[in-house]
Order: sequence, then structure tokens, then C-alpha cells
Amino acid sequence: MYNGEYGEGKAEAMEILVSLGKIYEAEKMIPITSAQVSGVSYKTIGDAGLDFVVDLGTKADVMLETMLNPAGVDIDNWEELGFSEEFTSKQIDIINGYESIGVMSTCTCTPYLIGNTPMLNEHVAWSESSAVCYVNSVIGARTNREGGPSALLAAIVGRTPYYGNHIPENRLADIIFNVEYDFSNEAEIGALGYFVGQIVNDKKPYFKLNSNPGRNNLKTLGAALASSGAVSLYHVENVTPEAQYVKNNDSFKELETITVTENDILNTMNSLSSTDKIPDLVCLGCPHASISEIQKVAQLLKGKKLVKDLWICTSNAIKSVAIQCGYAEIIESAGGKLVADTCMVVAPVEELNYEIIGVNSAKAANYVPNMGGLDVVYDTVENLIDMITK
Ligand code: F3S
Repeated sequence: MYNGEYGEGKAEAMEILVSLGKIYEAEKMIPITSAQVSGVSYKTIGDAGLDFVVDLGTKADVMLETMLNPAGVDIDNWEELGFSEEFTSKQIDIINGYESIGVMSTCTCTPYLIGNTPMLNEHVAWSESSAVCYVNSVIGARTNREGGPSALLAAIVGRTPYYGNHIPENRLADIIFNVEYDFSNEAEIGALGYFVGQIVNDKKPYFKLNSNPGRNNLKTLGAALASSGAVSLYHVENVTPEAQYVKNNDSFKELETITVTENDILNTMNSLSSTDKIPDLVCLGCPHASISEIQKVAQLLKGKKLVKDLWICTSNAIKSVAIQCGYAEIIESAGGKLVADTCMVVAPVEELNYEIIGVNSAKAANYVPNMGGLDVVYDTVENLIDMITK
């Protein structure tokens, strides 16, 4: 490939990845089994990104299962949600560009919920930060925190440089967090992630928790760690697949331990809200909602009417399951919307005349205030739904 036997596009991609590998002193290139590409929303990549993607079609196809990150609009319901035709048409051009080289247009940050689910120790090249954290930590597959372009190039050549999280010794923990608090909801676990991410930045935390938080909460935890810090891998004792390997290593005994108290969690929760007013839009599903999270919202909404807007962001695939299970109907008859392909951060929500957004994700709470001066309310799904129903 490097020498051009498989075409110019693959040679170009390989050349860039080999240069990247040299920068990180990688000893070799290794095969990967899947890729996940960020840099999809027109809001974040703009016209320069659109030109880059349209140009891709003339280069080379991807060689393996490659999924896209959320786009800037819900492709099927953009008009109903209030997005402009101009924005949507540019967004569709971007998605078509990716599709033309074989990328699956499943626009989601939770590809692991819809079939792009590697196995323990598999090497992959993923780029969305919360997905990177989940696939490394909860699944035990191996990826660096790729940029959108490097993940795409890896998908084109089916290989990535062997450095960072691909090397077993680099997956060991750096700091132990002894958490003296019994979590009862997703907002508290998100606050833990946010608190710890600020301390560790890109280091690897090892958590000692009183109980197993479950898959949905681990998704929330990783997203928060990756947004206040740049965490790409964490371990939870007796829960995540590599925790025992990490604990058995001699280096573990030398690690610093930090105790996290109830105060740390509650103070962080408070700091994540910028107002105590009632939100005019509640946005759930950051990272994109799983079917059990949607089921929970449907249960909370049964027989109620919303007095403010509600979006539950998810992938199109999970939305189809929600329709099949009857959850979509319950949510829609209460006045809520299942929003596919996009999310409250990568969609131009600031153009839709909302002022206060309610979220149960620390990652979303971190980003929403930067979007055109919107205020944010951070709370549990139960409390948020309570605030906007009658
Ligand atoms: Fe996903 Fe958007 Fe949150 S991409 S992790 S729902 S900010």
C-alpha cells in the first residue's frame, strides 16, 4: 500500500499514518477491525470540512466496518425540529461524501450499541472521545483517541500505528480513586467523571466503587472523564475487563490514592448547572441513549403531558427498536421527540430560540454553556422530566 500498489489514495493515507507513527515512535503498523469517525457535523467542520469529505470520494474506499459520529441534524426530521434547509443540505452532502467511500451513515457516538462492538484486545481506530473511553474501558478493545482524519485514514488502509493504548503496558492505571459514596443516579456518576477528569487530564484512573454502576452509567462516566479531562481509558475494580490485570501489576502498589467524598460529588453536581430556572428544552441521550434509557423515559412519561420540549438523542437504529417496543409512541404522545443522527452539542441548537437546556450528562453540561450563551440545568432524568411535565 505504501508503495502505491493499491492505488494512490491508499498510498497517501498510509504515508500520513506512517509519519504519524514515526512521531509517536511506533515500531510497526497493526491491523484494525473497525473504525469510528468524528468530524461529521457541518456545525463543527464547516465548508472546509465539507470540501475535504466531498474530495474523499475520488480517493479510496474504507476497508472495514466504519461508522460515523453524530451529524448536525436529524436527517429525517430536520424541518419539524426547526433546522434550516441550507444547513441540512450541506449536512447531507457531508454524509453522502462519507457514504461514497463505504462509511456507514449510522450517525452515532454509541456505535457499540448498534453492532460495531469489538471484542477484548481487538485493535480499532475510533475518534469520538466518549466512544473511545467506552470501547477501551468497558469493552477492553484498544484504540488511541484518534482525530476524525486519522481514524478515517486507518479505515482506508485497515491499519494504525502501534503506540499508546495499543500497547498493553500503556493500559495500566496511573492514579487510584477510592470513592466513598453510594451512587444512586446517572447525574452523580457523571459528576464523579467530571471531577476526576479535571484531576487526571489524560492519565488513566482506577476506580474503587461500592457497587457496579452498570453499562449505561459507565457510558456516562467515560463521557464525563473525556470532556473535563482527556481520559481515553479507565478501570473500575471488579467491573471492567482489564481491572484485574492492572491490579496484579507490581506498579499498582506504588500508585497514589485519592479519596472522593460525598462533598466532591455534590459540589461538582452544583457547579454543572448555570441556573436554577426551569429549562425550555430537556435534552437526554449524551452519549446517545440506549434502548433501556429510552424505556425508562417512556415509563416516566406514561400518562403525562410535557409543558416544555423534550429531545431524546439516539441512533436511528435504537430509535427503530424504540418504535418497535412502543416506547416512541408513549414519548411522542406526551409531546417528546426521539431525535436521531444528531445531539444537543453538535446540532445548531443555539439557533432554535431556546435559552435554558436541561441535561443529565456532565459532558453536555460542560459544552452547552459555550453554545451562544445558553444556560444549563444539570439533574437526573427523573427530576428533569418532573420539571417539564404536568
Ligand atoms: Fe455524543 Fe453529542 Fe454527547 S456526540 S457524547 S451526544 S456531545
